[in-house]
Amino acid sequence: MRMVDIIEKKKAGEQLTKDEIKSFINGYVKGDIPDYQVSALLMAIIFKGMDATETFNLTEAMLNSGDTVDLSKIKGVKVDKHSTGGVGDKVSLVLGPMVAACGVKLAKMSGRGLGHTGGTLDKLESIPGFKTRIPIDQFIKQVSDIGIAIIGQTDNLDPADKKLYALRDVTGTVNSMALIASSIMSKKLASGADTILLDVKFGDGAFMTNIDDARKLAQLMVDIGKHFGKDTRAEISDMDQPLGLAVGNILEVKEAIDTLKGNGPADLREICFASGSTMLLQAKAAQSVEEAKNLLQKKIGSGEAFNKFEQMVKAQGGDVSFIDNPSKFPVALYKQDIKATQSGFVSAIGAKDIGLDAMKLGAGREKEDDRIDYTAGIVLNKKIGDKVNKGDTLATLYTERPSFEKIAKDIYSRFQISDKPVQVHPIIWDTIK
Ligand code: URA
Repeated sequence: MRMVDIIEKKKAGEQLTKDEIKSFINGYVKGDIPDYQVSALLMAIIFKGMDATETFNLTEAMLNSGDTVDLSKIKGVKVDKHSTGGVGDKVSLVLGPMVAACGVKLAKMSGRGLGHTGGTLDKLESIPGFKTRIPIDQFIKQVSDIGIAIIGQTDNLDPADKKLYALRDVTGTVNSMALIASSIMSKKLASGADTILLDVKFGDGAFMTNIDDARKLAQLMVDIGKHFGKDTRAEISDMDQPLGLAVGNILEVKEAIDTLKGNGPADLREICFASGSTMLLQAKAAQSVEEAKNLLQKKIGSGEAFNKFEQMVKAQGGDVSFIDNPSKFPVALYKQDIKATQSGFVSAIGAKDIGLDAMKLGAGREKEDDRIDYTAGIVLNKKIGDKVNKGDTLATLYTERPSFEKIAKDIYSRFQISDKPVQVHPIIWDTIK
């Protein structure tokens, strides 16, 4: 099978067969097909699309391109969740321990942050000693013993996605429903859980900027999961402003601890309870949303959810004294409040720009090998809908970099203040199952 014929076929808008898709994925992973031919095919996919059958076949070829994780030694239903990424998204740090405290097994592989988005692994690694690379048998034992482990992807998990994603990133071919859905779902399916919950974000700080595209992507991923026999559900959630208040690694870990102790920002709590309920239903650990929410609330109130987080930190080599006493975490050298110069109501906070501002303060990476400053970031003091008086603090920036004045001005400009009260939207807009 010649790669050029596969490219020509897709260029003409025809459906690729399972064998053609398998041949290009396997050939690319082995190094037999060069980047330039795969780039041409990816661009043809961008313009001509892929139907559901092609997308299922692409997902299957990718998930079988490397190792798959066998979680069958762990008793009970193994649940997984995935967020399409955003700013201030520390949900896994809170939700994971909450559901594990309810007896559900969470075996999760997470990613790192790039550009304006943060990554769960970086947040966890801001806890001194915390290891996100552990042998797979240790990962499985930890989930069996304490019900939760969050690690990075193993080296040979979905190598097709690693190569394809890097190529898509530099060839303007990220933005295709079929390519995004197969990329996410092949990794999730290769990770071996029985159920998958997808948090598909839309808005300024998300991959999908509008809700219709978010719905389409969510439906496609749910269809893929079901095609492979997994209970897969999706929530469509708002990413027009950062989630919670903290953006930046240590700052977000502190917020997660606060939320596990029953405090924390309302939007973060809302999404953790909603997603947690869905995961408990998927695992059959509750019969109704109400029962699930009550159980989760009990685990927060009793301190069991917080204890579960501590257990995970300890099991993965982290220093739990920082979790017990978050004031032990280092604080950035420079701190500056950003003040409102007029009164009114917050009508917008550009999530993507806030994410980029935090990155420039040192909290994120512009390139994959950039070093992160775990203390850097931004803590919002006002969210959309909040009333603001002139002189109020809108946000506080934290950085080790002395030249932060321009970024401080930029952060100020991310807040739009309206004269009139502003309607606040719910955080979760839709659920697909
Ligand atoms: N996240 C992924 O893992 N893959 C994509 O293609 C987009 C977002």
